[in-house]
Amino acid sequence: MSQPLVLGIETSCDETAIGIVRGRTLLANVISSSVEEHARFGGVVPEIASRAHLESIHSVLTRALEEAKVSLNDIDAFGVTAGPGLIGALLVGVSSASGLSLALDKPLYGVNHLSAHLAVDSLNSDHTLKPAIGLLVSGGHSSILKVGDFSSDVEVLGSTMDDAAGEAFDKIARILKLDFPGGPAIDKIAKDGDCTAIEFPRGLTNDPGHLYDFSFSGLKTAVSRFLQKTPDAKVADVAASFQEAVVDVLLTKALAAAKFHGLENLIIAGGVAANSRLRALALARCQAAGISLRIPPAALCTDNGAMVAALTSLAVSSGAPASSLGLAAESSTGLDRVLWA
Ligand code: KG4
Ligand code: ZN
Repeated sequence: MSQPLVLGIETSCDETAIGIVRGRTLLANVISSSVEEHARFGGVVPEIASRAHLESIHSVLTRALEEAKVSLNDIDAFGVTAGPGLIGALLVGVSSASGLSLALDKPLYGVNHLSAHLAVDSLNSDHTLKPAIGLLVSGGHSSILKVGDFSSDVEVLGSTMDDAAGEAFDKIARILKLDFPGGPAIDKIAKDGDCTAIEFPRGLTNDPGHLYDFSFSGLKTAVSRFLQKTPDAKVADVAASFQEAVVDVLLTKALAAAKFHGLENLIIAGGVAANSRLRALALARCQAAGISLRIPPAALCTDNGAMVAALTSLAVSSGAPASSLGLAAESSTGLDRVLWA
């Protein structure tokens, strides 16, 4: 099927989200977030997230169908994030998608959340999908990938040894007494700071055994120590210098991977790809290196349903087999499995 109408459901963390695509064209992207209910705990509370998904999934579905101007009977295939994520949260999406697939007798695809972050880049443009280095940076994962094909050929070249990039943003924001989630808060305040004010360490940059791996725990310790010694430091300067250290390492390693593997395309995806400094520096460094850069619009970098629909649509178009009904959600799956059997 060349232009399948696909509905994708995402409930792996605190966003209840449904996207609808026709082929590679986005028709609807509706998100209901429970982030404000978690803010006072300083992190996502799994039970609250699951309950919020149950409460909002029906209205998100109705709104998505309205936005796309299609009816449920028109849908050719359903996609759902089957992992990784919070197990109770994933189960709400997987059972809803299974119910829809069964009731409407349409195929169901369980997809990997991480691959879906990358695949959202395929939407709303007729660019040819080319092999690329993928820099996947989210709240739970940071990896450098070799991407031949979004739905069938993703190879992990390196990953974080400790905290994910987004996790580092969230932890440093807490230390700086900024809002949760920390990424957007640091991004905002860093605009008023000097990113050269403090020289924070660039973890694992001189370690030939870990060319494409990351480590952010040393940076976290360095920021804490600096604040203990310099309690009157300007928060904006600390935020900007921390952000610069993260962004610098991410891009240095991703571009080194592109060079080594002879790939001229870099895709940056995941929640941290919404970061304005990462986006600006990536553009400048890719231009200088003759690399073509792709980053989804910021709104499609953080968790959404369009990314699940996008990956499912590519899978349907390539003739990949649907998942079996009764597919099991997996909270901690890696990138070795893009589509569920
Ligand atoms: O991909 P995502 O929405 O959820 C996961 O799959 O984890 O990523 C969430 C992460 C959070 O850690 C959040 O702080 C970070 O992405 N994030 C950002 C920005 N927006 C979201 N980090 C830096 N700058 C941003 N503008
Ligand atoms: Zn995500």
